[in-house]
Amino acid sequence: MKLWDKGYKVDALIERFTVGKDVEMDYSLAEFDVLGSLAHIHMLESINLLEDDELTVLTNELRNIYKEIKNGEFVIEEGVEDVHSQVEMLLIRRLGDVGKKIHSGRSRNDQVLVDLKLFTRNELKALVEKIEMLYRTLVAQSEKYKEVLMPGYTHLQVAMPSSFGLWFGAYAESLIDDLMLVQAAYRVADQNPLGSAAGYGSSFPLNRQMTTDLLGFDTMNYNVVYAQMGRGKTEKTVAFALSSVAATLAKLAMDVCLYMSQNFNFVSLPKELTTGSSIMPHKKNPDVFELLRSHCNKMQALPNQITLMINNLPSGYFRDLQLVKEVFIPAFAELNDCLEIANFAIANLTVNESILDDERYKYMYSVEEVNRRVLSGVPFRDAYREVGEEINRNEFEPDKMVHHTHEGSIGNLCLEEINRKMEGVLHGFSFGKVEVAFQRLLGNE
Ligand code: ARG
Repeated sequence: MKLWDKGYKVDALIERFTVGKDVEMDYSLAEFDVLGSLAHIHMLESINLLEDDELTVLTNELRNIYKEIKNGEFVIEEGVEDVHSQVEMLLIRRLGDVGKKIHSGRSRNDQVLVDLKLFTRNELKALVEKIEMLYRTLVAQSEKYKEVLMPGYTHLQVAMPSSFGLWFGAYAESLIDDLMLVQAAYRVADQNPLGSAAGYGSSFPLNRQMTTDLLGFDTMNYNVVYAQMGRGKTEKTVAFALSSVAATLAKLAMDVCLYMSQNFNFVSLPKELTTGSSIMPHKKNPDVFELLRSHCNKMQALPNQITLMINNLPSGYFRDLQLVKEVFIPAFAELNDCLEIANFAIANLTVNESILDDERYKYMYSVEEVNRRVLSGVPFRDAYREVGEEINRNEFEPDKMVHHTHEGSIGNLCLEEINRKMEGVLHGFSFGKVEVAFQRLLGNE
């Protein structure tokens, strides 16, 4: 059952340990493994390592396997090491000797590399859609509550006037920066490692540009030693981007937990989105935001986890890299879930429009008062001192007018400008060519 079978049986304990959870992870790579193989055999035919009719039967069977994967019928059989072995085995079982030709000029090392790059591109595309969805919800909430003031805090002490419009809008703009990191990560992933084989290339005249084009990659990892070094490094780069999105969500979740506390009473969730207590009958808890915070805090460990796994590896392939899949692959589903639930909960969040009636917030107007005096000719430091002394004597009674109208402030949230920045970043992604390339490989064009 091993591609590398040499006539003896591997110890069962060693077998179990070396496979671990890898087969489970490989299911996520299966469709991409087949796409990589489709590109590889077309290239092999072009350099006369496969006959025309061999290419046809292999292509048809790989397309069948692809359909089986999509229909959930594909299994990695008991005792088969990984997805790469399973696909080759199926081809040999179904097609005979021609199946044995597919692995010329290739190693599982560049196979898993290319699978991971294709998987990552696909997941990042889905992630971008989810980020965009939450972004739009935040912008809509910002627009809806642009007139509703709230206190801004420094040191968690009442500071200056802010607005719910600014608050929601801040998280929208934060997601744009996160998306810039996602874009950088996408570009790193969008480079073809196939043809690097075990990490040192091949004596066959492989046409690496051809597989680069067939798989819709932007470019390739030219240096074959570097292509292998990209294993782990690509994942780490992507992990930084995921972590950045997670950090935005965690901070947003923290704010909501704080603002939902009765001591703040700034925002509320419909009761259907809260959870209760087994003992305290009045409870409507923001568990959804607490779990969001926890998931997203946990996910920020990902770059560090990967760093520690790959940090002291010399160049060349090591089995250590297999374990990176276990932390990397599930992270996308986790972050996607978080984005989806954040979007749902934020869309349903309502704000308390009368919090500023409370006396405790009146000091947030102190700078406004100082500025008013400055405009009437008092030097800033003198005005500051006057107002400070009035506050100390408990004589401060603010005029609750707020005049922030410059860009990005309460009076001008710049949502149009922020949207324009978002469109610019979204335009920088090149997802279209991938779909065209895949449909061609699958014969669906
Ligand atoms: N499961 C392996 C991994 O993820 C596949 C590559 C195996 N290569 C090898 N030389 N043993 O790294």
